[in-house]
Amino acid sequence: MSEPRKILVTSALPYANGSIHLGHMLEYIQTDMWTRFQKHRGNQCIYVCADDAHGSAIMLRAEKEGITPEQLIANVQAEHSADFAEFLVDFDNFHSTHAEENRELSSQIYLKLRDAGHIATRSVTQYFDPEKNMFLADRFIKGTCPKCGTEDQYGDNCEKCGATYAPTDLKDPKSAISGATPVLRDSQHFFFKLPDFQEMLQTWTRSGTLHDAVANKLAEWLDSGLQEWDISRDAPYFGFEIPGEPGKYFYVWLDAPIGYMASFKNLCDRTPGLDFDAFWGKDSTAEVYHFIGKDIVNFHALFWPAMLEGAGFRKPTGINVHGYLTVNGQKMSKSRGTFIKARTYLDHLSPEYLRYYYAAKLGRGVDDLDLNLEDFVQKVNSDLVGKVVNIASRCAGFIHKGNAGVLVAGNAAPELTDAFLAAAPSIADAYESRDFARAMREIMALADRANAWIADKAPWSLAKQEGKQDEVQAICALGINLFRQLVIFLKPVLPLLAADAEAFLNVAPLTWNDHQTLLSNHQLNAFKPLMTRIDATKVQAMIDASKEDLAASQTDTGGPTGNGELTKDPLSPEIDFDAFAAVDLRVALIVKAEAVEGADKLLRLTLDIGDEQRNVFSGIKSAYPDPAKLEGRLTMMIANLKPRKMRFGISEGMVMAAGPGGEEIYLLSPDSGAKPGQRIK
Ligand code: 2FM
Ligand code: ZN
Repeated sequence: MSEPRKILVTSALPYANGSIHLGHMLEYIQTDMWTRFQKHRGNQCIYVCADDAHGSAIMLRAEKEGITPEQLIANVQAEHSADFAEFLVDFDNFHSTHAEENRELSSQIYLKLRDAGHIATRSVTQYFDPEKNMFLADRFIKGTCPKCGTEDQYGDNCEKCGATYAPTDLKDPKSAISGATPVLRDSQHFFFKLPDFQEMLQTWTRSGTLHDAVANKLAEWLDSGLQEWDISRDAPYFGFEIPGEPGKYFYVWLDAPIGYMASFKNLCDRTPGLDFDAFWGKDSTAEVYHFIGKDIVNFHALFWPAMLEGAGFRKPTGINVHGYLTVNGQKMSKSRGTFIKARTYLDHLSPEYLRYYYAAKLGRGVDDLDLNLEDFVQKVNSDLVGKVVNIASRCAGFIHKGNAGVLVAGNAAPELTDAFLAAAPSIADAYESRDFARAMREIMALADRANAWIADKAPWSLAKQEGKQDEVQAICALGINLFRQLVIFLKPVLPLLAADAEAFLNVAPLTWNDHQTLLSNHQLNAFKPLMTRIDATKVQAMIDASKEDLAASQTDTGGPTGNGELTKDPLSPEIDFDAFAAVDLRVALIVKAEAVEGADKLLRLTLDIGDEQRNVFSGIKSAYPDPAKLEGRLTMMIANLKPRKMRFGISEGMVMAAGPGGEEIYLLSPDSGAKPGQRIK
């Protein structure tokens, strides 16, 4: 037996200002399946992650919510942790980059880089918001495209004509935060001298650490020469101050990957025998893998290994890069209801359906993966329910009825068990190389063989014949054993199914090597259905709820959406007076308020606005669980919003509320004396 491997695994750290969606889940599920596979095989495999908590977007979001960044990131961390746990993503530690371990490691790495001569300083001229007293990142500057003249474009590229430019090229630049005209100002910045590591990176990126397609992409950057990387930001900034440099902070992307180490360090500090240096020291024999999306390759495969090398740590063994998720062949879309949050999915469907579907489609390359919702229903029902679980449900009854639930000894089809045994190394190899799609294909081919054999033997016909009981028991005992083998092979993907199967099989938690044995003379427990078919109406309900999320997020709560989601864009664009004056704001009397059947977040409001009554759907149910209490009170509504067709009817306007969401949504009210229909002047 070879020694167990020591493996440390990470997924990219999610930003602490937004909800997890199914695009994120692709990576966490992929990493979790790989980690579980390694543990199943008996290796020491540790999976760590953290929230990525720093940066100006988080600082501004918190400011807008009226809470501290620390409160914001704590709220989001609780939400993220719950979503991951329910998707069965089994981190050994989920930490935060805003943690003491990360502060210490970031300082230590920076100081080592500085002392080794890898840090440069020079003055940089940048736009500065004179009202907010802060330098503006490119995405916080808007103006007119210098190329095509389109207004309201971000500081680095034009969405209309695709031109890329420096923010200083924009015409009529404005701060997207305050609306002020930014001024140019100089400031001292700190740079990491990436070109010092050119040769090392040229070798390292071609040493089997990366998929060829990724190494080829990096070669384009490497061949054109690396640039020094700006790693500092000026106060105000939510992050870590650079040691010895008051008012200067580490750029969020400097301390984010160090967060991998910090999360592991935090785990080591409370786990006897787990040694940080054994994994991160220069001479470590452990393996370290980062799972990431293709958009952040440069940070992980250039900056990060260079930082580690320069600071005297080991470099990653591999960077495993995946493509993007599309839904029904297109980018996820809020209006189509395909921008599906993890929570919305979990409200309607079992996590294992998605885990299996992702596994069935995930190869080892960087191709995008399409979640086709019709195919999803069809594939899960046909493979998991129709093939795998079906074997157990076909056989269990006969064993319980005919032999008091005891599996007889013997092997009714050695050629079949040999085929299962022979397939195991190839399935293991597919898992190891992250070719989950091949692993699933090979497992389902075995399930097909098992089903075909059982169908051929037809124990249900034999059971009706005199003197065939022994044969029935032999067939069904093997059927259950083959089911057990399939569960062993599928366990990294379907841990819940495996746990339920272990309970039914009356066995200790199964490990990979258990596939080499068969159960004989073994008592089973009662059989309970292990998985039910996906009901397509639930998928539709999930899509409708995602559209509802959008409606709720457009309902008035000044920032976060009605269910606690923090929207991506942290800023409200400035509008001119004419745009404001065009809004028909009215006092409205709530005549009727009722829950909407089939909608988790919406209330249907009947509003009297003087000369007419309006029907408005509003995502405020979480704050008003007893909607009738709203009846008779006045609120404010936008009366000239374009009517919006929803699943439940047409929404003819929008009521106004404030607050972070959940129970904290507060409907606005005019002072007493106001009359329904009166306009805001
Ligand atoms: O792109 C992102 O979502 C980043 N928050 C990922 C950080 S990964 C690591 F480097 F910390
Ligand atoms: Zn343009």
